[in-house]
Amino acid sequence: MEYRRLGKSGLKVSALSLGSWVTFGKQVGTEDAKTLLRTAFEAGVNFFDNAEGYEAGASEKIMGAAIRELGLPRDHFIVSSKVFWGGDKPTQMGLSAKHVREACDQALARLQVDYLDLYFCHRPDVDTPVEETVRAMHALVMQGKILYWGTSEWDAQRITEAHRVARQEHLTPPVVEQPQYNLFVRGRVEAEYRPLYETYGMGTTTWSPLASGLLTGKYLDGVPEDSRLSLPGYEWLRELLLNEEGQDKLAKVRELKSLANELGISLTHLAIAWCLKNPRVSTVILGASRLSQLQDNLKAIDAVPKLTSEVMAHIDRIMANRPAEPERFGQ
Ligand SMILES: NC(=O)c1ccc[n+]([C@@H]2O[C@H](COP(=O)([O-])OP(=O)(O)OC[C@H]3O[C@@H](n4cnc5c(N)ncnc54)[C@H](OP(=O)(O)O)[C@@H]3O)[C@@H](O)[C@H]2O)c1
Repeated sequence: MEYRRLGKSGLKVSALSLGSWVTFGKQVGTEDAKTLLRTAFEAGVNFFDNAEGYEAGASEKIMGAAIRELGLPRDHFIVSSKVFWGGDKPTQMGLSAKHVREACDQALARLQVDYLDLYFCHRPDVDTPVEETVRAMHALVMQGKILYWGTSEWDAQRITEAHRVARQEHLTPPVVEQPQYNLFVRGRVEAEYRPLYETYGMGTTTWSPLASGLLTGKYLDGVPEDSRLSLPGYEWLRELLLNEEGQDKLAKVRELKSLANELGISLTHLAIAWCLKNPRVSTVILGASRLSQLQDNLKAIDAVPKLTSEVMAHIDRIMANRPAEPERFGQ
């Protein structure tokens, strides 16, 4: 396993990590979660990602029980939670000082840990001043309940505002952003956040490397019954991925698949290795509903050397979505 610094922080995170969205608490119970976590851990994965909103807390409960039963030493792994979607009541959602504090205590209890290594604001909250959230996160750091905090899917302007407030008020700034990053979704990581890496030393823990499975090729001939896009409650995701635009995506998946064949690797490995190629990615968070998927996906790291600059250029031609380089004045 390769380990990367989380931005400019001192934290070393495995280049591949494991998350629990949709899976733990929906498709995966505690026993299977133990197998997944043990397999990942034994392969060198040291980061497990979670959120209060995943299956209304059930995902954290399962991860907490599994980690406890496996007896993983606390100083060997990094665990996260995210605050935003805690419940239906007005005080149970968003990034108010009240919800940030309560959600953290609840996540600690469900995950059965004394502190979270990473704590994310799961989305921006337009109803809460950024300063209130920065202060709430800083307080949790001071109380020893979290070590680092970050954002997820905030725009660069709001992240910049968080840094400005933190600097001005002598508060702890965010060190990490958790954006979607895969062959279909590149804009934020490759363009919008570009100034944040240099200016603030932000790291990234990126999500959905396989676009919920689309980039395995499993949806090329329809929607398999035992797949994420058939799950009750996830019709919105099926609609999002397989609408008219989705048909264009599938055409690109087909082209990527024949490129992967030429390279002698699987499409899944190509897609994950492509994320790993970006040095701004601190860790690629994998998802797996069963052991065979995790075992397969962990091997993607071996495919990275196959992605030469010529291959990367070929991929860019297929996808036709590479963000433009920033304009340089005076040249
Ligand atoms: N911050 C955020 O807003 C946010 C949002 C989403 C995710 N995340 C994090 O990122 C993690 C990963 O996201 P993700 O689960 O969407 O990742 P993904 O890799 O895009 O999708 C994972 C899903 O694809 C299918 N799959 C994976 N490997 C496969 C293989 N080798 N062959 C066939 N099917 C395979 C499985 O679903 P099925 O078997 O059910 O089809 C699996 O659960 C999440 O667990 C979560 O921690 C964060």
